[in-house]
Amino acid sequence: MNKGSARIEINEVGPRDGLQIEKAMVATAAKVAFVDALSACGFARIEVTSFTSPKAIPALADAQDVMRGIQRKPGVIYTALVPNVRGLERALECGVDEMNLVMSSSETHNRANLRMTREQSLAELSAVLRAAGQAGAPCNVSLSTAFGCPFDGDVPADEVLRLAHALVAAGATGITLCDTTGMAFPTQVAALCERAARELPGTALTVHLHNTRGMALANAVAAWQTGITRFDAAAGGLGGCPYAPGASGNVNTEEIVHMFACMGVDTGVDLPALMEIVRGLPSLVERELANPLLAAGPRLATHAPPAWLAERFPA
Ligand code: COA
Ligand code: ZN
Repeated sequence: MNKGSARIEINEVGPRDGLQIEKAMVATAAKVAFVDALSACGFARIEVTSFTSPKAIPALADAQDVMRGIQRKPGVIYTALVPNVRGLERALECGVDEMNLVMSSSETHNRANLRMTREQSLAELSAVLRAAGQAGAPCNVSLSTAFGCPFDGDVPADEVLRLAHALVAAGATGITLCDTTGMAFPTQVAALCERAARELPGTALTVHLHNTRGMALANAVAAWQTGITRFDAAAGGLGGCPYAPGASGNVNTEEIVHMFACMGVDTGVDLPALMEIVRGLPSLVERELANPLLAAGPRLATHAPPAWLAERFPA
């Protein structure tokens, strides 16, 4: 059944999920300029950075400086990833609007990524949710590996929902179902989104997709058809988890925005402005980025016909 909404929201995660895995050290000023350029594009949310241990994620060790350096555009919600109480304190100090807490749906990925068991993470995140509640900061929780784990394989939907229920009971206002390593496929995405929406009616649900196996856009349509209206995406298809073997880019923001625009779905994002940013990404991350949409142009960016046509078919 198609419940697809005519209006969806994009959370641009390139500055966090994108830059956390890049080998090139991106200068703080360049990160600030990247976020400022994104702020002009019409995103509902931008995930600016992460307040993780600098040993775990050295690329984002300058989180406070980036957060303090950006120009806040009214109407944009600036979020940051927070793994523990220490991260929350650092994020609150520099005025993050909304926290994005994180834990994994699968046991082994949680241990690799966060150095804790899932039960320890639940206890830690419950403490973060309590403290954030006292500080008046809303918290979303991203559940990594919700559609499959690179170590444990299939992750039962019952497990994902068990964790989601526990986190909502502890105060989470939103849950993001994350396909950390691109293991999701469309019918699976539809089934989990439908179940989550049914069981967690008051909770804002977001879907976070990676294109590791080429299914991200198909998965986005499947999620949208069940009524999901919030999507994470990264400009240029940057991104990946450093603690997940074979992880690669998020669904490209420009591709998801372009696709939904073709379908008459409003994302609020200014595609030409975004494509201008994407054009500059190879110099930001110091590597080439294959980008078919940038090469071909948007669907109706038509080309001049070959010059010889006018001779062959004179008017
Ligand atoms: N911000 C800054 N520093 C932090 C921190 C935070 N949020 N949390 C812990 N640290 C520091 C500690 O002070 C300690 O520093 P020290 O060695 O100088 O004493 C060090 O990090 C280790 O602390 P510990 O509590 O033992 O953490 P850990 O090594 O068990 O790691 C996490 C736990 C959660 C902090 C770490 O694994 C992490 O940040 N993971 C994030 C992973 C991630 O973002 N992955 C990609 C996104 S899904
Ligand atoms: Zn991701």
